[in-house]
Amino acid sequence: MDRYAVIGNPVAHSVSPRIHGIFAAATGQALRYEKIRADAFAPAAAEFFRANGRGLNVTVPFKEEAFDWVDRVDDAAREAQAVNVVVPEEIGYSGHNTDGLGLLRDLQENLGVTLARRRVLVLGAGGAVRGVLGPLSRAGVAELAVANRTQSKARALQQTFHNIDAIGLADVSGEYDVVINGTSAGMAGEVPEFDPRAVRNAFCYDMFYVPAGDTPFCALCRRHGAAGVAGGLGMLIEQAAESFFLWRGVRPETAGVEAALGLSDG
Ligand code: ATR
Repeated sequence: MDRYAVIGNPVAHSVSPRIHGIFAAATGQALRYEKIRADAFAPAAAEFFRANGRGLNVTVPFKEEAFDWVDRVDDAAREAQAVNVVVPEEIGYSGHNTDGLGLLRDLQENLGVTLARRRVLVLGAGGAVRGVLGPLSRAGVAELAVANRTQSKARALQQTFHNIDAIGLADVSGEYDVVINGTSAGMAGEVPEFDPRAVRNAFCYDMFYVPAGDTPFCALCRRHGAAGVAGGLGMLIEQAAESFFLWRGVRPETAGVEAALGLSDG
């Protein structure tokens, strides 16, 4: 059976194997999907493909290393300077980035959030944010502000993404239509510290997700009058569907997958 895997550290709680299992069953594809917890990316990836692996998803903290490791990249990966999908080819490996597409599909198609002509605020300036700024900046937004605790890191992103405003978290003021949390604060059960009046009446999206209930960021946004909140499971499912398509040439349905995972029941 064709082998696929997600490689990262930590990966123990990854739901990617379950998502791809649902896709495989729904599309009648025979495949196996595993988790690989690696201490270093390159040797683990090489070993996986030597053992006939057919494709990798790459997660924290290896997306930048995967970008350096592959032989060629698509436009999205080049812009993000990060790779979350590796496809073995006749000669070498290609690297792709489906995170931005995943976020936009979840926001616009699943959640019905309008980005065109809206004021959008993105919190964070690390690898996760870099992966989504390209598609966001091309969505016709009125304003795209990137606020980071360390403002210089937001500024550095302006070299690639010319249309963003780069500010410090402490400088966030005014109201936005859409607020996206791309910081890793949630991993430590924390929330980024910023003026919460920014989320009043906004749709708030956390790229981080928790198995059940609200993420800390979503909970904060609810308390401060957000018009709607969503965690990042939908984005994970959408980027997985795009990975599946790159590997198998078949695009799985994503509707119903979130419910099928049954995570929200706890
Ligand atoms: P990732 O690949 O998950 O984006 P990263 O590249 O290490 O990880 O970036 C982490 C991001 O989360 C950074 O923007 C970081 O802010 P700094 O650049 O100021 O460090 C942000 N972050 C992490 N913990 C945070 C916290 N408790 N409050 C605010 N921002 C936080």
